[in-house]
Amino acid sequence: MAGKSLLSLFAVLLWSPKVLCYVEDLDDTFKEKRMDEVWLVEFYAPWCGYCKKLEPVWYEVGAELKSSGSLINVGKMDATAFSSVASEFGVRGYPTIKLLKGDLAYNYKGPRTKEDIIEFANRVAGPVVRALPSRQMFEGVLNRHSVLFVYIGGDSPLKEKYIEVASEMIVYTYFFSALEDALPTNVTLQELPSVAVFKDRTYFLYDAYQDGELSSWVNRERFRGYLHIDGFTLYELGETGKLVAIAVVDEKNLTEESVRLKTLIQRVATEYRDHFSRDFQFGHMDGNDYINSLIMGEVPVPSIIVLNTSNDQYFLLGEPVKTLDQLVQFIHSVLDGSAQAQGGDGIFQRIKRVAFDARSTVMSVFRSSPLLGCFLFGLPLGVISLMCYGICTAESDDGTEELDLLKREALPEEDEYEDRRREGEEEEEEERQEEKSAADKKVD
Ligand SMILES: *[C@@H]1O[C@H](CO)[C@@H](O)[C@H](O)[C@H]1NC(C)=O
Ligand SMILES: *[C@@H]1O[C@H](CO)[C@@H](O)[C@H](O)[C@H]1NC(C)=O
Ligand SMILES: *[C@@H]1O[C@H](CO)[C@@H](O)[C@H](O)[C@H]1NC(C)=O
Repeated sequence: MAGKSLLSLFAVLLWSPKVLCYVEDLDDTFKEKRMDEVWLVEFYAPWCGYCKKLEPVWYEVGAELKSSGSLINVGKMDATAFSSVASEFGVRGYPTIKLLKGDLAYNYKGPRTKEDIIEFANRVAGPVVRALPSRQMFEGVLNRHSVLFVYIGGDSPLKEKYIEVASEMIVYTYFFSALEDALPTNVTLQELPSVAVFKDRTYFLYDAYQDGELSSWVNRERFRGYLHIDGFTLYELGETGKLVAIAVVDEKNLTEESVRLKTLIQRVATEYRDHFSRDFQFGHMDGNDYINSLIMGEVPVPSIIVLNTSNDQYFLLGEPVKTLDQLVQFIHSVLDGSAQAQGGDGIFQRIKRVAFDARSTVMSVFRSSPLLGCFLFGLPLGVISLMCYGICTAESDDGTEELDLLKREALPEEDEYEDRRREGEEEEEEERQEEKSAADKKVD
């Protein structure tokens, strides 16, 4: 045992200096030298926990990009030490990952794993629109990517628009261009030029009249029709403005009923694609924790829920779903407004949200460390009780008749304390919303 751990210690010692040197520590001279090269930079703060978690991943990213012969430079910058540079790049939270290419800066918002970060870096560092000169290459990229956009045709105003959209949306997905003779045999186009999205083993064409702006169509169509959804994806899906229909299941205990609901949702997603894909995203989610906190209630597992992330409304079926028809009808009723909406973003729901968040914060502190919880929340209460007690007993020495009156006077003080606390929480909520809107900004 001891020998083995000694060996691994050696391995770390030998390995790390080699890996470390692939990630450059950046300072304020970085502003000048970045212009001629492509840089992948992590802005961190020394005290930030998520940054510490990212650190080993970051060194692996540096090592792998270097060993694959990539021209992307990897660096990290202590944003607290060089705050003026960091603020010039619009860094607001830690860690912030950016790919810098010329005078463009692209934010990375995906999962912080080596594979995802490298995929992002290679995609964004390359050309925003990649050419597909042959049918073979076209079929090759169809096999490699689950979602991709293709412009088909020669030069046109649509192509200029496409390139413009691609240079912004390259953070999310791939953009290609091809001439008609490179099209796979089973793709037929009515007119040229066209923009198509290939996904779900088929393709959809952009229609300027029906679909509106190219950029908003790309934003809506950049996901597969059926997804495994987690909290992060749900937030991203929300940005498409589509409703999200989810089978909530327990992946660790997939009962017959869960599998049935998942299958039903999957069938609606594929068999009713033409009816619903314009307005709906479909998928399943593991566990109900995230949904519960979103709707501030409890959804049964397994069950099917439809979320409108634009206004926080949700829709539940009154009865257990038995048939595909029943589910299709339910989805129709959500679309035409006849289904009963719950939740929402009204003032009452917002107050409920503040109270709900406060409660779950307190609960999570108590759950993870009861002693700290007692200290944090017990101490102020204790101090206040002691003060009340002090006031009451001190005055009661003079005469017991005054006691009641004074007690009543002491009460408002407690209320005031509550109010101040609530104000504090609202500020927190605002901060969170600010963070959210900051995250909304895709490209600087
Ligand atoms: C083209 O046909 C092949 C084989 O039938 C199929 O696997 C593929 O999904 C089709 N591609 C499109 C874009 O329809
Ligand atoms: C799985 O879920 C079923 C139904 O909810 C429950 O009766 C059963 O005890 C669960 N099994 C496990 C291993 O949790
Ligand atoms: C979802 O919310 C948006 C924004 O409030 C609203 O315009 C839309 O009609 C809602 N959709 C449904 C089906 O309720």
